[in-house]
Amino acid sequence: MSQGCYIVTGAGGSIGYAIAEELARQGKWVVMACRNLQKDTPLRDRLNTLYKGRVSIMQLDLASLDNIAAFARRIHDDGITVQALINNAGVMSKRFTLTRDGYETTIGVNFVGTYLLTRLLIPAMAQEGNIVFTTSMTRHIGKVDQHFYDATPARYARFKYYSRSKLAVTLLTAYMANQLSERGIRVNATDPGVVNSNMIHMDAWFDPLADRFFRPFISTPAQGAIGAVAAATATDVTRAIFKRGKHTPIPRNILQHPYLAWLFDETDHRLAPWLQQAPVVTSV
Ligand SMILES: NC(=O)c1ccc[n+]([C@@H]2O[C@H](COP(=O)([O-])OP(=O)(O)OC[C@H]3O[C@@H](n4cnc5c(N)ncnc54)[C@H](OP(=O)(O)O)[C@@H]3O)[C@@H](O)[C@H]2O)c1
Repeated sequence: MSQGCYIVTGAGGSIGYAIAEELARQGKWVVMACRNLQKDTPLRDRLNTLYKGRVSIMQLDLASLDNIAAFARRIHDDGITVQALINNAGVMSKRFTLTRDGYETTIGVNFVGTYLLTRLLIPAMAQEGNIVFTTSMTRHIGKVDQHFYDATPARYARFKYYSRSKLAVTLLTAYMANQLSERGIRVNATDPGVVNSNMIHMDAWFDPLADRFFRPFISTPAQGAIGAVAAATATDVTRAIFKRGKHTPIPRNILQHPYLAWLFDETDHRLAPWLQQAPVVTSV
């Protein structure tokens, strides 16, 4: 059994729980990083009963930068080595809302919070550890430019912000893979496909029809988890997108995206207070 832990964010959600379950089944030390401990602690207990495992749970709210910094500090203070960080948590906010730090929620959780968490955990990563980000096919319609952080309630559309966040997460995978290649840390993305989960419930009149005619044909959470587990346990792949059992290199339009450098300069500037205050080394 590996000494380091496998952190799964959003491990109480549909795909996240399936990832945690498969890793627990493989005998890994899983840390479920969950927003709501009351809701998700029974899931931790269930996994420990099923697999006689070493599954822990820790509170993490990706909509709060202070909370993320506190999570990273706990990992650091407890001397925990992270074998794999599986950034699975995500949201597609139905209405325009802001995180505690003033980011539109979908961008704030899926990209900003995920980026800060990853940056703060790098010093705790095992040599040859794995970082996994969760993208989606909506990245193909997402737009990242100098207006990325503009948040205008009147023009809010959930798919617009969600696809932006997922394109940004794919850029993040390329960026981190480049930054960390010399340290031996592998960085990959997973695209779960269309998965039967809470997230694809649209709160719309057609939901009952979709539930009846569409849901039976889409992937189960366990199928959606296959790529994440493969990326979390990969030994010789980096800078790739995993989908089910296969992986393909991150395409050139992502690696050479015109706003890639801008996005990380701008985000580092915004996150500077949290990156500087953290009790861990945060440079990549
Ligand atoms: N379902 C699909 O078809 C599909 C397709 C492509 C990509 N994805 C991606 O797959 C990932 C998992 O989604 P899912 O389908 O399993 O949806 P889900 O069942 O809604 O799970 C989402 C998870 O993210 C957590 N989360 C949301 N906001 C958070 C926050 N502020 N801090 C910490 N955790 C937070 C949720 O916690 P709570 O349980 O406390 O709400 C939940 O555990 C997401 O990144 C999603 O974008 C899904």
